[in-house]
Amino acid sequence: MLRLSVAAAFAVVMFVAPLGKKPAALPDGPRYTANGQLLLPEDYPEWVHLGAGIDMSYTSASLPAGHSVMNNVFVNPSAYRAFKQTGQWPDGTMLMLENRAAQGDLSINKLGRTETPEVLGLEVHVKDAAHGGWGFYDFDQTKTAPLIELTAACYSCHQQHGIVDTTFVQFYPTALGIARQKGTIKPEFLKELPPPPPAAQ
Ligand code: HEC
Repeated sequence: MLRLSVAAAFAVVMFVAPLGKKPAALPDGPRYTANGQLLLPEDYPEWVHLGAGIDMSYTSASLPAGHSVMNNVFVNPSAYRAFKQTGQWPDGTMLMLENRAAQGDLSINKLGRTETPEVLGLEVHVKDAAHGGWGFYDFDQTKTAPLIELTAACYSCHQQHGIVDTTFVQFYPTALGIARQKGTIKPEFLKELPPPPPAAQ
């Protein structure tokens, strides 16, 4: 009797296990709706801040006078921890790009600019082998987003100009130091980078 129930329990485990969901690659990695849309990781402001830019533009056309945009890039903490070990983004990496308008002359600030509370754009670059590798998603005032089509310019520009895999590590100072140390920068970009600071040599 006992032997039978042990065998039965074993059979149940064998039967259930392959049907069980594969655990996510990282605990704070991407999560999707039933129809495959990415869920906005609402806790991204608690992630690791990789870098900031102001008025970045892919052309030399200038912005309308008085308008300024600031951007911040965040990564999920367990992906950053893995990057520190290897200099490569692991499966389950999410890189969030947040754009905000800039404002001057607020409170005691008389020169220079700070960010407004208003978010102008939220886009994420996700590495997920189960969803076809690297993909882009745009959260335009939404909490779920479909994969941006693979023919979009996002993919070709990141492929051609990103120095680690398809990401812009050249603009993320701490990650850049790690990538230099681990030797994961695509060789063709090494000559266009500024020399490393003395402490990193
Ligand atoms: C012409 C080049 C170019 C195109 C096209 C482009 N990007 Fe980027 N992208 C950049 C640059 C440069 C950065 C670095 C930004 C920074 O330093 O703050 C970046 C950074 C990002 C990041 C932060 C993570 C990373 O990969 O470094 C995301 C997310 C992102 N872009 C999304 C998009 C999406 C979505 C599209 C298409 C709708 C797109 N990008 C199109 C140049 C481009």
